Amino acid sequence: MTKSWRQCLIFLVFTLNECLGFEKYYDGHVVLQVIPKNSLQFEALRKLNEALGFEFDFWKHSNRVDKPADIMIPEEKLDEVQGYLKKNNLDAKTKVIDVGRLIRKEEEILESHESSSRLRSMPSFNLYDYHTYDDQMAYIKSIAQQYSYVHLESLGKSVEGRDIQYLKIGYPSNRPKNILFIDAGIHAREWIAPATAICIIDRLVTNPDYTSLLYDIDIYVVPNVNPDGYEYSRTSDRMWRKNRSGPRQGCYGVDLNRNFAFKWGYSGVSRDPCSETYAGSSALSEVEAQHLAKILDANNNTIKAYVTLHSYGEDLIYPWGYAIRTYPSDVAELKKLAHEAAEAIHAVNGTRYSVGNSADELYPASGASDDYSKSIGIKFVYTFELSPTSSDDNFYGYGFQFPKEFIQPTCEETFPGILTIAKAVQDTNSK
Ligand code: ARG
Ligand code: ZN
Repeated sequence: MTKSWRQCLIFLVFTLNECLGFEKYYDGHVVLQVIPKNSLQFEALRKLNEALGFEFDFWKHSNRVDKPADIMIPEEKLDEVQGYLKKNNLDAKTKVIDVGRLIRKEEEILESHESSSRLRSMPSFNLYDYHTYDDQMAYIKSIAQQYSYVHLESLGKSVEGRDIQYLKIGYPSNRPKNILFIDAGIHAREWIAPATAICIIDRLVTNPDYTSLLYDIDIYVVPNVNPDGYEYSRTSDRMWRKNRSGPRQGCYGVDLNRNFAFKWGYSGVSRDPCSETYAGSSALSEVEAQHLAKILDANNNTIKAYVTLHSYGEDLIYPWGYAIRTYPSDVAELKKLAHEAAEAIHAVNGTRYSVGNSADELYPASGASDDYSKSIGIKFVYTFELSPTSSDDNFYGYGFQFPKEFIQPTCEETFPGILTIAKAVQDTNSK
């Protein structure tokens, strides 16, 4: 090819990218659900990446026989994967036929909304939509301006310089107040998490029923811990999970939920900067994790509960997450409260969250914010894996691309679960 031809082609690909908005394509990527039926099949599934020498994105891991895994597979790898599955007697069901098409559909909906929301002013902020980080921050700022007992604070800046703001919700008191700490968005692509956090803020401040609760305790909400990753997932790569530090060996990002300073690097992590679960160069190497750890450390005596919102799976999980069958000494209390919260969630729309230990229920992974919180003495620590679930047959709303129509029901059922935990914090006041 002559030089000018090549340049022209590069130019074309470039402009096409610009036009379509996304840099990273998922056209033809499918999501297969694979359920191992015996231990041989389970082993084969576990070794998929190793056997084919490729890091497939496991949207959802399987950790035992009968538990489904959701695996995203690029078109050009499909034959190879299907061959491997067949050889090992593994059955697969297609959960998403074309991830790229789903992304474009989601993008169209977002774009039509953005132009209209820009015309609107903040008081009409639509809680049931996926917003830009700036709009999320503008919204929480407007809440702080509207309600005297709500304060806007900042954890500090992200790698790219975005301010990680959060709200402190609660009336002033002469007595020391205990805290429920909630965060969301540690993983960029899990959009339902920040949307739910923001909706929880709305429910707390607009309903007078919670006044006495908010006289007794403070609730801190950080709606989006990883703004750089979040924006990147909106503009460039919908399946982005990590933060945006780097590059290292040509790759960006650290999995913030592997970067915390407890059992760092011990399990479920990668040392490869190009991996989705890269744990970073050292514990707390990432500013976003540093900021979060700092506020948790500074308040570890008064924060009685830590809730971190993720997606997806409909699980309510408690520590320790770094190893299977390894629990804190007060695990019975953690379990009991988790079941109460799951009951409260169930009562709303009938959604059943599975309660369990994070390593037993999902998979062992160390350096997560939940384990860290527990390690510094915070009593009730939970990761919520919000909706949808893997057993869902809704092809359109699968996985991380949970349509905005589901923000409201998700918020409405999650909220009583959060309130159950808030009441447990309130109870610690008298102890
Ligand atoms: N999906 C979450 C993650 O992979 C789960 C974290 C659960 N906690 C744990 N300590 N493993 O980050
Ligand atoms: Zn997550």
